[in-house]
Amino acid sequence: MFETLKKATLDKIFVLMAEYAADPREGKIDLGVGVYKDDKGITPIMTSVKKAEQKMLESAKTKVYKGVVGNKEFSAAIVDLALGGVVEASRIRCVNGAGGTGALSILMNVISRARPGGRIFISDPSWPNHWPMAELVGLKPHYYPYFDAKTRKVDFPAMLAVLDTLTADDTVLLHGCCHNPTGANLTPAQWDDVAASLQKTGAFPLVDLAYLGFGDGLEADAYGVRKIVSSVPESMVAFSASKNFGLYRERAGVAIGIAKDGASADVVSSQMQNVIRATISQTPDHGAEIVRIILEDKDLRAEWEAELNEMRGRMQRLRVKLAEAIRQKSNSKDFDFIAEHSGMFSLLGLPEDVVSKLKLDDAVYMINDSRINVAGIPEDRIGELADKMLAAIR
Ligand SMILES: Cc1ncc(COP(=O)(O)O)c(C=O)c1O
Repeated sequence: MFETLKKATLDKIFVLMAEYAADPREGKIDLGVGVYKDDKGITPIMTSVKKAEQKMLESAKTKVYKGVVGNKEFSAAIVDLALGGVVEASRIRCVNGAGGTGALSILMNVISRARPGGRIFISDPSWPNHWPMAELVGLKPHYYPYFDAKTRKVDFPAMLAVLDTLTADDTVLLHGCCHNPTGANLTPAQWDDVAASLQKTGAFPLVDLAYLGFGDGLEADAYGVRKIVSSVPESMVAFSASKNFGLYRERAGVAIGIAKDGASADVVSSQMQNVIRATISQTPDHGAEIVRIILEDKDLRAEWEAELNEMRGRMQRLRVKLAEAIRQKSNSKDFDFIAEHSGMFSLLGLPEDVVSKLKLDDAVYMINDSRINVAGIPEDRIGELADKMLAAIR
């Protein structure tokens, strides 16, 4: 039977990670992989997470199944954190997902059941997994314009022009904040315009919220998602706790369905549960319970917020320092956008041959499309990195 299969293409990030690991050169720089790293190049376990985990170990009495919807208190705390009460609780239903990807997968399955073969519009470019995930559930992915490669900003007029042409049968996938891969984000006024466009066309919004708190802070980063869900009768949100709680491997996420009323929300809930039952039956709880403990405990929550702010501040500082170093060395403002972007990534807009030269000659790794993870910038070698980048461009 297997002879009928073709070798599937792996996400390019995994190939790059393997190349980086196998590179024997000292001083290699990893700007590729999409996880937060501290100044020692480590993805640490947050102190608040360690404490919550300790509490959990001490109080846990069973490992019995949690139920198909998962950890309800975790979901409720995330809804509070992300949506801040802008929608009545009676219209919201949640299930846990295995990470943000698991949440997205559940939601896309439900969308596909509601709109078999329907179109889903994804930003150009987007997180590389959005497109195949949509295809896997039978939705038809299309791009909407997003990034202007010249200005390295959002090409908002082009984006809105396409959103305005959508119909009530279409779905729009929006990055709630900290756009991956570009780092270019919508302003509050632009979010207002997107919400107005959705109201006009009736297109259905699916918001992917994988980096809440990594951009401009928890409240500021929630502006877009809150605007969208409070402006339209029906929407969905996929929340990931992988980055902001540093829980990557624990696979903690929430699939949030928001309906026009409680009866409709119950139908959405039953569909989400049905998808879970038929795929993984029960979602993991370890990470979910850690997040619940943190968010329900005043002190732990304050500690987590402080740690999150520190990570965000560090990434912002690295952005400013790299942009400044390049400006000084090149006497041009061409890379100032790095400091203006927010979140963990910036799309540098370098041609593939430059990206490849940086990897082969200088052991500086970034994704082929020139996305860098700013958390990977070595703070004590920023001048050297700027030199290498400028030399590769020339
Ligand atoms: C835009 C975006 N959405 C969703 C995810 C999913 O995150 P996870 O499944 O690891 O929680 C990621 C992770 O890289 C992402 O960048």
